Amino acid sequence: MQLEEFKNLVIKTRCCRRFKKIDIKSEDLIKIVQIAALSSSAKNLQPLKYIIVSQDEEIKQKIFKPLKWAAALKDWQGPIEEEKPSAYIIVLCDKNISDYCMVDAGIAMQTIMLSLTSIDLSGCILASIDKNEYKKIFDLPENIEPIFAIAIGKRGEEIKIVPKKDSIEYFRDEKNAHCVPKRSLNEVLWKIL
Ligand SMILES: Cc1cc2nc3c(=O)[nH]c(=O)nc-3n(C[C@H](O)[C@H](O)[C@H](O)COP(=O)(O)O)c2cc1C
Repeated sequence: MQLEEFKNLVIKTRCCRRFKKIDIKSEDLIKIVQIAALSSSAKNLQPLKYIIVSQDEEIKQKIFKPLKWAAALKDWQGPIEEEKPSAYIIVLCDKNISDYCMVDAGIAMQTIMLSLTSIDLSGCILASIDKNEYKKIFDLPENIEPIFAIAIGKRGEEIKIVPKKDSIEYFRDEKNAHCVPKRSLNEVLWKIL
């Protein structure tokens, strides 16, 4: 793959919050978790585990309920019924293996997000989950802690990267496209030696 092609994949891989309903096969998400499990891991401990939910409508409603969407969009309450995600991957940290899961989770989740784009799906990483509620829903033992949810579906909104002006806060433009300001190379590249 050429670098330009990979750049386009990364550009396309945005957090999507308004989906179109589709049926997502568990098999596709199993393959994606298998890819995520190939990602780098501190000390190669591999403390992450995953729950895939794509078919059970009742569990999907329970996962959705405590999620907090797009804190920066004050006038938007989150996806309406028709815009809800069609599936979820819940990321778990096995505390018996390691307490240090967040960096591993970041790497694995970006791998998942890129994989989703590659099969024309979109996702949204969500930290604002209800850990205790999820522990109950999935009957998880003490050592298994839910740390993130990835909401998954068919993209139902236009999402654009825009140059950062005054603020890094994402917003919706006059055409209701979701705009994500990114800092320029000048701002992020500290030094070239
Ligand atoms: C670790 C992490 C946690 C996040 N948690 C939430 C969340 O709880 N709710 C939400 O709507 N978006 C969440 N997001 C999505 C970010 O808001 C999003 O990545 C950011 O606005 C930039 O958009 P982009 O991913 O399209 O570049 C999270 C993203 C990351 C990486």
